[in-house]
Amino acid sequence: MADYLIDDDGVLKNKLGITDPNDFKEAEQEIVTNKTAEILNEAQQTFDLDYLLHIHRVLFEDIYDFAGNIRTVDIAKPDASTPFCYVQFLEAESRRVFDKLANRSYLINLDIKDFIKEIVILAVQLNALHPFREGNGRVIRLFLIMLTNYAGYLLDYSQVSADELINADKRAFESDDKLLLLVYGKAVTR
Ligand SMILES: Nc1ncnc2c1ncn2[C@@H]1O[C@H](COP(=O)(O)OP(=O)(O)OP(=O)(O)O)[C@@H](O)[C@H]1O
Ligand SMILES: [Mg+2]
Repeated sequence: MADYLIDDDGVLKNKLGITDPNDFKEAEQEIVTNKTAEILNEAQQTFDLDYLLHIHRVLFEDIYDFAGNIRTVDIAKPDASTPFCYVQFLEAESRRVFDKLANRSYLINLDIKDFIKEIVILAVQLNALHPFREGNGRVIRLFLIMLTNYAGYLLDYSQVSADELINADKRAFESDDKLLLLVYGKAVTR
């Protein structure tokens, strides 16, 4: 993983030339917030891998050389019992997820209960893919906001706390999606 890092436990190599973790976090947050607004103004009608890569590119192009590109190293969260999708399977697995999403017409024409069930399944699959070296949470959430909009609903993550969401993501990754269903039940409205 060292190829992405400035040093062994330092921040990721970045175009901002920042090495202090707190300064970097602050600068990254400000840029990503502005770029998020750009994406929210788009009128997207196709929700495929290219669109996910596009969101990552726009959010992170001023920050990382790898913006818009799938990771080339295996990654895991320190507190997780299993790693995310191995690099060697990323392409095939993401094709499977996005083919299924296209076959379901990007989840249009579902009543709200079924939509919530489906978006939870998709959120779990995308998190398990974790296609990028960094920025997966932000890119996936924005992708899901845009998709929900297209399907005629509203996805508002401010309805849940960050801790609640991350805890539910963890539990779902360990194969129990009950908490995540509650989270999306609160966050998705008409
Ligand atoms: N132990 C875990 N098991 C499964 N998923 C996890 C775990 N810890 C975090 N996650 C998921 O990974 C995401 C964070 O991944 P990453 O750091 O690539 O994204 P980010 O955009 O930088 O961070 P964030 O989502 O916190 O803004 C979280 O949003 C959460 O969904
Ligand atoms: Mg992160």
